[in-house]
Amino acid sequence: MNQTHKPKLVISTGAGMSAESGISTFRDSGGLWEQHNVMDVASADGFARNPELVHRFYNARRHDLVKAQPNAGHRAIVDLEKDFDVYVITQNVDDLHERAGSSHVTHLHGELMKVRTIDPPYRVYALSPDNLDTTPESRDADGRLLRPHIVFFQEAVPEIETAIEIVREADIFVVIGTSMAVYPAASLINFVRPGVPVYYIDPRPAPTPAGVKVIAKTASEGLAELSRELRSILSQPPL
Ligand code: APR
Repeated sequence: MNQTHKPKLVISTGAGMSAESGISTFRDSGGLWEQHNVMDVASADGFARNPELVHRFYNARRHDLVKAQPNAGHRAIVDLEKDFDVYVITQNVDDLHERAGSSHVTHLHGELMKVRTIDPPYRVYALSPDNLDTTPESRDADGRLLRPHIVFFQEAVPEIETAIEIVREADIFVVIGTSMAVYPAASLINFVRPGVPVYYIDPRPAPTPAGVKVIAKTASEGLAELSRELRSILSQPPL
């Protein structure tokens, strides 16, 4: 399809996007994340209280992640880049969107495969599959202490302004696999321009504002259906 201007398709994803890759969601497992209370392993207080537990927790998550693969949903999002200018905004800290080949990915809650200096000026370092583990004593070449590059509860979300600007420019907005329980990520839907179509793909959808088109399916099934619908809209002659 010869498109000079590709419509801007903004897709906001949550843990449900990675469920079919075998990565557990947060609120489907009764509030425990891999047998831990989220506030013990993903909050600023938890990290101050027991940094060794937090480092060990994210080490285990990285070992799980390198064994996981992007799923058909991640690939469907990449395929949509043929006809749309696709921007992904994700609450997920995994790198499955990147590994699937998505061109534009903004992480609101950090990135599991990266670490950063604890003190400013913050420097971020990428880990590799053969170097996944950190401890409270891990330091960079300048001797500066390192921590997981994760936005903990009780911490600011540095990328939220960037994400809001992206959503403001969306021609189509899609939310996938999130319980919409955590802010400010859940507020992104409020920044869509009037008249822009909004879709929500989730097998157990949370309540949404009027006008949102809900597709109560998994990410892979829902994206297959949505891709067909969006492409059929694109192929219709402009009014
Ligand atoms: N496909 C699509 N969605 C799915 C699938 C699937 N196969 N399986 C489950 N879901 C949906 C669930 O119905 C639920 O609505 O994924 C959503 C997961 O919700 P949460 O576990 O609350 O995850 P999320 O919304 O991403 O959590 C937000 O909370 O714990 C913090 O920082 C953490 O980023 C996380 C944030």
